[in-house]
Amino acid sequence: MNAAPATDVEQRAAELRAQLNHHAHLYYVLDAPELPDAEYDKLFQELQAIEAAHPELLTADSPTQRVIGAVLPGLTPVRHVVPMLSITTETDTTEGGAIAFDARVRRELGLKEGDPPVDYNAELKFDGLAINLRYEDGVLVQAATRGDGETGEDVTHNVRTIGQIPLRLKGDAPPVLEVRGEVYMRRDAFEALNERQRAKGERTFVNPRNTAAGAIRQLDSRQARDKPLSFYAYGLGEVQGWALPATQSGLLDALAGLGVPVNDLREVAAGTAGLVAFHQRVAAARDGLPFDIDGVVYKVNSRELQQKLGFKTREPRWAVAHKYPAQEQVTTLLAIDVQVGRTGKLTPVARLEPVFVGGTTVSNATLHNVFEMRRKGVRVGDKVVIRRAGDVIPEVVGRVPGERASYVPNFHMPRECPVCKSEAAREKGSIEYRCTGGVFCPAQRKQALLHFAGRRAMDIEGLGDKLVEQLVDAGIVQSLPGLYKLGVAKLAALDRMADKSAQNIVDALEKSKAPTLARFLFSLGIRQVGETTAKDLARHFGTLDKLMNASVEQLLEVPDVGPIVAASIHTFFSQPHNREVVEQLLAAGVQPKESAGEADDRPRPLLGKTLVLTGTLPTLSRDEAQALIEEAGGKVSGSVSKKTNYVVAGEEAGSKLEKARTLGITVLDEAGLRALLGTDA
Ligand code: IVH
Repeated sequence: MNAAPATDVEQRAAELRAQLNHHAHLYYVLDAPELPDAEYDKLFQELQAIEAAHPELLTADSPTQRVIGAVLPGLTPVRHVVPMLSITTETDTTEGGAIAFDARVRRELGLKEGDPPVDYNAELKFDGLAINLRYEDGVLVQAATRGDGETGEDVTHNVRTIGQIPLRLKGDAPPVLEVRGEVYMRRDAFEALNERQRAKGERTFVNPRNTAAGAIRQLDSRQARDKPLSFYAYGLGEVQGWALPATQSGLLDALAGLGVPVNDLREVAAGTAGLVAFHQRVAAARDGLPFDIDGVVYKVNSRELQQKLGFKTREPRWAVAHKYPAQEQVTTLLAIDVQVGRTGKLTPVARLEPVFVGGTTVSNATLHNVFEMRRKGVRVGDKVVIRRAGDVIPEVVGRVPGERASYVPNFHMPRECPVCKSEAAREKGSIEYRCTGGVFCPAQRKQALLHFAGRRAMDIEGLGDKLVEQLVDAGIVQSLPGLYKLGVAKLAALDRMADKSAQNIVDALEKSKAPTLARFLFSLGIRQVGETTAKDLARHFGTLDKLMNASVEQLLEVPDVGPIVAASIHTFFSQPHNREVVEQLLAAGVQPKESAGEADDRPRPLLGKTLVLTGTLPTLSRDEAQALIEEAGGKVSGSVSKKTNYVVAGEEAGSKLEKARTLGITVLDEAGLRALLGTDA
């Protein structure tokens, strides 16, 4: 390093870099920012100004280097010092895969039946692309793709745009440390990207993995930045001057300590039983994860044993990928129907040869809209790719290229609603067709009733699609308030309806009459008002009356309510037939629980507190616990970070509980939660 005394500017620049990198870590990796964005920006601009005036002070780890504009002529090849290998895949997606791997490892280690179980580090198999991050003296100097394993491509310019990847490692970093891991795109980022593409009438992307792979190889880093990527580390490349931890689990802990993102859903699993349990635990958690995985990876935990096992040509004997059923499958498009949504939106829906994908059998999938269909070029009879990941609705991703046996005409959107025959029209500037029939359209009515009765809305048990279908088709229920006029006699007269079930539904309707204001608002099905907005509105206005009479300006005062949402709410309540529906619901005895007085004056013992729920609680369902916490002013978050105040853990709590313990966060059981809420009587 430079021996001459650092100048003031030089010192200030170093200080700013350290501060900014520290706050970037808190923000992107730990999800626990301590600095308001504006403050961060100020520091950032100060550093930018210094670097502009003193270009010689610019360093590779400067956070200003995350934003770059230059377009490269092509990607430069990078030769990996340590080849990037792949791992054997266990294709048996049942527990047999884990059993076979453990048996192989034991045999190769010469272990006998009575010998103790082998410890494995069990991890997620992220579905993205492998990246090698090279840190020299703690500074990120190069990022390269895997390529053919020997030679990859230099993608440093794009990797720098990934906020989660530290430009400088925390703490004592060795002279050379290559961190290997997976760059991936979260599902919500992917869905949002495609939503934006659809709104613009532009090409949508196939799946998060391909999008991430495309983004990382862009020559123009601005293109990459528009497709937000994430990263998890799982291993190492070249290392110089670092005492390697003795185990894979220890290595991941050490990497986390250096500020590198490491996923929490991992554990040291003992023998076959441990592997099988992890495989099952992750299978159950898979849909709820915010990103795609295509399996889990088991690695012999001890490095010493890893070395003993060694490699078989290009794959380590000490690791295996154990897959899950794929989230994408090919099947035949049998027909295209048009479905009418709650707001009248017409959606082309693919009827499919049933196919097992992402854990369930899928026979319908959305085609989104006619423009996207055209772009994908799908027609009846085609072999198509279906994707079902997480709880996102299955969708048709595209067609498998190939000749069609005969001519198939292109699909056209109907000019009239397939259900009520009202005109179907495209709003100005929108690519969506809508039925103009409004509440007169039985399809819209059915959807509105189903939404109203839904578990997250009025929660009317037993009022499912079969019953709603019957009620609307028979003309028994025309509107939401009509539901509350249903008696046992009317219900029992329906096909396949026993007296007992009829009574149950009447009871459920009665029980639904005291919703929270937020649920009531959500159940009305106002366009743009989802659950979160409904909660925000209820909290802000306190009473239904105030909300119904709020001006656009007053609505805009609600946090997170923008002009589109405000206009939608205002339009809804300015229509007499909507006000009438609300009045009739109230007249039928529905009484949303309003908060008394101006601002809410109930005790709010959890105001400003963030809680995380994990595992199964003895008496409260997850939704019930969340509702109680929110009523008490608290927030429920999906992941544990330094910002978390309490973790409420029930039976079979997993990695969130472990993380809480590491971070020293207070862990409560249900009784502890009730004590906090003051409902422990
Ligand atoms: S370990 C020598 N761990 O799956 C072992 N790989 O062929 C190197 N992957 O190319 C890989 N999650 O991109 C490992 N937790 C994980 C992984 C993982 C995803 C990818 C990786 C690799 C491929 C395996």
